[in-house]
Amino acid sequence: MVKSKFDFIDLEIQNLKAEDRYNYIRVIEGPQGAWLNIEGKKKLNFCSNNYLGLANHPEIVNFVKENLDKYGIGPGAVRSIAGTNLLHIELERKLSEFKGTQDTILLQSGFNANLAVIPTLLDSPEDAVISDELNHASIIDAIRLSKAKRFIYKHSDVDDLESKLKQADGSRRKIVVTDGVFSMDGDIAPLPEIAKLCQKYEAILVVDDAHGEGVLGEKGRGIVNYFSKKGELSEDMVDIEVGTLSKAFGVVGGFVSSNKKVIEFLKQKARPFLFSSALTIPDTLAAIKAIDIILNSNVVEKLWENTNYFKTEMKKMGFDLGNSQTPITPVMLYKESLAQEFAKLLFEEDVFAVPIFYPTVPKGKARIRTMISAIHTKEDLDFALEKFYKIGKKLAVI
Ligand SMILES: Cc1ncc(COP(=O)(O)O)c(C=O)c1O
Repeated sequence: MVKSKFDFIDLEIQNLKAEDRYNYIRVIEGPQGAWLNIEGKKKLNFCSNNYLGLANHPEIVNFVKENLDKYGIGPGAVRSIAGTNLLHIELERKLSEFKGTQDTILLQSGFNANLAVIPTLLDSPEDAVISDELNHASIIDAIRLSKAKRFIYKHSDVDDLESKLKQADGSRRKIVVTDGVFSMDGDIAPLPEIAKLCQKYEAILVVDDAHGEGVLGEKGRGIVNYFSKKGELSEDMVDIEVGTLSKAFGVVGGFVSSNKKVIEFLKQKARPFLFSSALTIPDTLAAIKAIDIILNSNVVEKLWENTNYFKTEMKKMGFDLGNSQTPITPVMLYKESLAQEFAKLLFEEDVFAVPIFYPTVPKGKARIRTMISAIHTKEDLDFALEKFYKIGKKLAVI
């Protein structure tokens, strides 16, 4: 056979398949919802981040349709060159109000929002970033793009964080960054303790609230509101919140909320803002409406009702749900091959929940990551529980 310069790809793909780490991506033949059409059949959706069911909410769809004639589709270019649509400003205002911050900057995704924050604020080897070992890939990549010295602390371990802060003492600028809710485990960062340490060591605190918005706190205002309502945190102790519109808001896009000074700086210097086009008009419209629905309905309460029911029943059956405290419900299976097999059998039983394995989680920590939504009915949850029980028994997991 003729040798090609891409032979290395064949080898890598073979390895992924041999190690049960190859991603098989399903084609969804319709909108997001509690049930999806896949391969011409209805499958119960147990893996999307559509926490509140807003990804195909009729009021949002209508609002976007009604406004498309007026505003069109595309943003034209980056905002600093082509100007900013007034809808972007309106969404930034609404997000600031929702999060209780002075100001907000929109980005094209949560991933880009992290890339906008860390490399922009830390641009010298004299700076330091101190990051939880389980932080999201976008934080890891943002750190790689910054010039700062890196310190990784053990997951949610505030003693280890303090020892890393001591090591970073004397740095020009310091950022401590953590996921608010950890995306693959569903546990909540000990933000009050982290914030206290940031005050003590004069570090900027950045929290990525991608899985807290629409989920935690009063009306889903997020992790900072959640801890401040409990009286454990004063909101001004958290300097910067990174957010996404791609999960509970049901759209796509990202944002950073903070004080006016930080947002002004990001609008002048953050490369994803300056060199990548703005959020599209339909996405912006949809997010504006999504905030109204979150604030004026009981979707967040319904999400928690469903979550508590499903998790209680799964635990009763004997499933290991790790340390989850939120609707992110990992069903821990540890072995990659077992997770693949479990997901395959679930799919045959019309439940769509995917296996998660390295590099998304550490090796030997494979799982099915189930995601509960406000739009699941009790019947949907019972359907899933029955299938989990059947397969759990068959594969001797419970
Ligand atoms: C903690 C965290 N941050 C950022 C992101 C990226 O968000 P987006 O999908 O909007 O790029 C995700 C999504 O997976 C996430 O879980």
